[in-house]
Amino acid sequence: MAARRPLIAGNWKMNGLRADGTALAAALVQRLKKADTARFDMLICPPATLIAPVGQVLEGSILALGGQDCHAAEKGAHTGDISAAMLADLGCRYVIVGHSERRQDHGESDATVRAKAAAAHKAGLIAIVCVGETEGQRDAGEAESVVTGQLKGSIPDGATAENTVIAYEPVWAIGTGRTPTNADIAAMHANIRTSLSGLVASADGVRILYGGSVKPGNAAEILAIDDVDGALVGGASLKDEDFWGIAASCR
Ligand code: PGA
Repeated sequence: MAARRPLIAGNWKMNGLRADGTALAAALVQRLKKADTARFDMLICPPATLIAPVGQVLEGSILALGGQDCHAAEKGAHTGDISAAMLADLGCRYVIVGHSERRQDHGESDATVRAKAAAAHKAGLIAIVCVGETEGQRDAGEAESVVTGQLKGSIPDGATAENTVIAYEPVWAIGTGRTPTNADIAAMHANIRTSLSGLVASADGVRILYGGSVKPGNAAEILAIDDVDGALVGGASLKDEDFWGIAASCR
């Protein structure tokens, strides 16, 4: 099996003003400086308004910066949107695309997500492509086929283990405090790994993150599951001790 370094990614969503966002970033930079970080990579994805000030705090740190979304076009008449090149210009190395909140709130289809991931690659960013079933789909026994379909539709040509990360986030587990069983996570991640061959060059090297109600209390067991190569963390990424506690669970 390829050695995959865990990625612990924080998705701040629409949270944080300058003072608390920069303080949170600074606290994580300090923790990383003191720690043995050989076991994981750490990433934070602040809201667009905080990318520049947080980027300044991260200068010289191994803590990576990412966006939460990008437009598929390089530039142009798209009021309110941000391009992948703009994120790269501010020092971002990653961008989340196709988060279920974008798919739901903004009607993003697999084709849209695919175009955004392609734009991210073109700008030199690593795309974190999010997939995940709804509760109804899981209850109907469709979870694996839904996720496989999302992967097929959302991963662009030219995707590699270096420029693409997958985040499996069951929609019903996001922000709810509920998580799938470890067996269900293991089965889904194995299914994703299988589906990736043919879609991504060197599929065995692609990091597959789990997301949805990851906390310090459940991180160790989730991160120990085969084919779970890190976590995409929402709520618990907003407190440095909680986010750090999750990262420290990497073995
Ligand atoms: P949560 O969110 O950790 O608050 O459940 C995860 C996500 O949406 O990425």
